[in-house]
Amino acid sequence: MIRVRFHKPDGTLDKEVEAKPGTRLLDVAWAAKQPLEGACEGVMACSTCHVIVDKADFERLPRASDEEEDLLDLAAHATRTSRLACQIILSDELGSLSVRIPPGSRNWLYG
Ligand code: FES
Repeated sequence: MIRVRFHKPDGTLDKEVEAKPGTRLLDVAWAAKQPLEGACEGVMACSTCHVIVDKADFERLPRASDEEEDLLDLAAHATRTSRLACQIILSDELGSLSVRIPPGSRNWLYG
């Protein structure tokens, strides 16, 4: 199992859950009732699943595709470690993953 930590926009820990390898981060976020809209449900037509990944964890993830990079350009509050949760598949090698939910109108709880 992979330990996933969701942090609020201010950096405080909101929820810590365990997820099976092969699970998509967006699905883990939804199951954990995190405020990620994910409007297109992963077909890369929005950026409402934007998360900010912990720096060390970011380095261990496979690189984002060019398409994902282009969509991230549209995301509010994007940083160097921003990713789309619909494009992150949790792997055994990862072990754990910490992400922060960015503020913004599309992430309704913290808008
Ligand atoms: S849910 Fe739309 S790009 Fe991730």
